Amino acid sequence: MREKQFLVPRVSQRVLSRERPMIGTPAPQLLPARGWGRALSCVAAGKSPPGVAAEGEAAPAPRGVAGPPKQRTVPWISVRAFCEDRTTAEVLQAAASDLLLAKARLEVRTGGLDAAVAGCTIGPVPDLIVVDTALPRALMLAGLDRLTAGCAAATKLIVIGRVNDVALYRELIERGIDEYLVAPVLPQEFIDAAANLFGHAGACSRGSIIAFIGAKGGVGSSTLCHNVAWTMSEILQSDVVLADLDLAFGTASLNFNQDPVQGIAEALQASARLDALLLDRFLAKCSPHLSILAAPVRLDERDYDISPDACDVLLDALRRYVPFVVVDLPHAWTPAVGQVLLQADEIVVTATPDLANLRNAKNLIDFLKLARRNGGAPRLVINMARTPKRPDIAVREFSAALDLSPAQAIEYDGEAFGLAANNGQMIEELSRKTKAAQQFRALALTLAHGTEPPVTPAVTKKPSPLAPILQKLRLTI
Ligand SMILES: Nc1ncnc2c1ncn2[C@@H]1O[C@H](COP(=O)(O)OP(=O)(O)OP(=O)(O)O)[C@@H](O)[C@H]1O
Ligand SMILES: [Mg+2]
Repeated sequence: MREKQFLVPRVSQRVLSRERPMIGTPAPQLLPARGWGRALSCVAAGKSPPGVAAEGEAAPAPRGVAGPPKQRTVPWISVRAFCEDRTTAEVLQAAASDLLLAKARLEVRTGGLDAAVAGCTIGPVPDLIVVDTALPRALMLAGLDRLTAGCAAATKLIVIGRVNDVALYRELIERGIDEYLVAPVLPQEFIDAAANLFGHAGACSRGSIIAFIGAKGGVGSSTLCHNVAWTMSEILQSDVVLADLDLAFGTASLNFNQDPVQGIAEALQASARLDALLLDRFLAKCSPHLSILAAPVRLDERDYDISPDACDVLLDALRRYVPFVVVDLPHAWTPAVGQVLLQADEIVVTATPDLANLRNAKNLIDFLKLARRNGGAPRLVINMARTPKRPDIAVREFSAALDLSPAQAIEYDGEAFGLAANNGQMIEELSRKTKAAQQFRALALTLAHGTEPPVTPAVTKKPSPLAPILQKLRLTI
């Protein structure tokens, strides 16, 4: 019988110690249809990704749970499942495409308990083994004893069986099994079970990822992203890292008047051994609470394709150190961009009010709504509205066509935006009074989800020399 382990999962070490390829060389994936790839292929075929309700269909509700399903992310763990039943294998594959399980590496094999006993020691030690078995009680217990004796002590075990019996459940827990589920299971049930076993370490310390993407090139997405990141750091007095993922043409360093020697390209390259000390070398501090990971200042011969895995590891490391990671995405449709969009907590799609933007924004928003199960709908910002001498699609019509109300509609202001860009300043630094500065504040608060700005001490007014007289007259100034 295996001794019950109460180990805190060493998720962070595992993530940071993974061998990573160079920028642009995707790492081999155990499950080819994981996350982004699976979502993309399903949406392209006009189908809902597994586990996602199609339009008009009711979303699957977890059995026996009246309220909304728990939404806890499973951190970067490796899962090896041995399924006796094809339906269970399909359920686990469906769970793998869920945003909440997108970080985990799930390998589904056929064969039940015997296959698990034979396969648990082959290859790298998984963090979690899932065994689906239809064996009766006695045979199941005997097989599980062999499994627990053979597999690594730190590996957690979930058993999916056919017998619904509390006494059996207790016996399994006593034998070192971490969770027992009764088939047929739903994808959400499996995710909840994995999150219960591994979610704590990852869930508590995760900062939010807020991604900005333009519906078309040049619509002001980076400008919005930089202003919101700066505003967020100022009003919340919280640490924010702005990651410029537009490696070739990113403007974060220009907009913050910085000239860093190293930045995001080096951070991506070093993602295998990132820790706080190393990250600090790549970050350029722009203000007390805002640092940037800037894109290279010069174009050179390096490969500018970003490996989605390296990007994942970098963002994961960043969100462990700061509460907000704001990502400036290029207007491109690449695996790395897709990966960030699928995993971001918040997405801001910026569009100018014309037909091409409307078409692109619709495609992007529809795709994201469908693919990001358990992720909220993206936020829409209409930018450069009322550009002089340019016929606009009205904001109301634009948002009605997208079935999404804009979080903000920012007007064209060539003078303020042009001056701020040329000075390497944020709009609010240039002038607090501009309407855009107020809108950036509102957007920053919306994206920070109810995080209240710190209470600033009330400014003590210098008493007026007339105050005593006015008080007698019950007037104040
Ligand atoms: N509301 C606005 N009014 C006037 N000018 C604006 C406004 N918003 C952004 N701009 C200007 O538009 C230009 C393009 O902005 P920006 O580089 O942020 O766009 P982008 O969508 O990130 O472009 P890219 O596709 O190249 O990444 C900048 O010069 C910026 O100052
Ligand atoms: Mg940009």
